[in-house]
Amino acid sequence: MQLVESKSNKFYHFYPNIVTVVATKFENKINLMPVAWNSGVSSNPRYFAVMIAKKRYTYELIKKSQKFSANFLSWDYLKLVDNIGSVSGREVDKISKFNIPVQEGKNDGIVILPISYAVYECKVVKDEEIGDHNLIIGEVLTVHINPDVFDENERPILNKVSPIFYFGKNRYVKLVPSEEVEFE
Ligand SMILES: Cc1cc2nc3c(=O)[nH]c(=O)nc-3n(C[C@H](O)[C@H](O)[C@H](O)COP(=O)(O)O)c2cc1C
Repeated sequence: MQLVESKSNKFYHFYPNIVTVVATKFENKINLMPVAWNSGVSSNPRYFAVMIAKKRYTYELIKKSQKFSANFLSWDYLKLVDNIGSVSGREVDKISKFNIPVQEGKNDGIVILPISYAVYECKVVKDEEIGDHNLIIGEVLTVHINPDVFDENERPILNKVSPIFYFGKNRYVKLVPSEEVEFE
């Protein structure tokens, strides 16, 4: 079998990616959006990156507040996550429309979603335009976890919580591990 050059402009080959819900607050405005383009970029200090297009309302709020939280929700909340990615906070107040519980984080000006299984509270240390998105790197100030669903190494126990993976173009996949390997 020979590889062929793709002639389309499709760019989904690196999926599935875990989805995080970015929560932002500026003055009395709170907004949420799902972000599939996210990654840890440094472990000491802990830096977490999200790629957000400039046109998103979330970007506007992060630009002003310089803070955000990254909330990891389980598969049970898939429909909610998809819903908050289908409208802009410029048009609707997603918190009241979808009846989403929000609470103050540990750090001033950061809100978090208590329905998450893990949350990073972040302070922006870098915001750089990269093509059609902005790379926003946050220093992780506080990590919250639901202790019932993590093992002793703080890895999610996959029969207790199932992360949401995005497959591109409104498709999602659930991770059901059939095999797990741990090297010495
Ligand atoms: C699962 C999923 C993942 C997404 N990932 C990203 C992303 O990584 N970066 C981005 O800019 N937009 C992403 N989007 C699009 C935004 O979440 C969507 O446009 C959202 O409505 C923006 O809301 P806002 O204008 O209130 O900020 C994603 C949407 C979905 C449904």
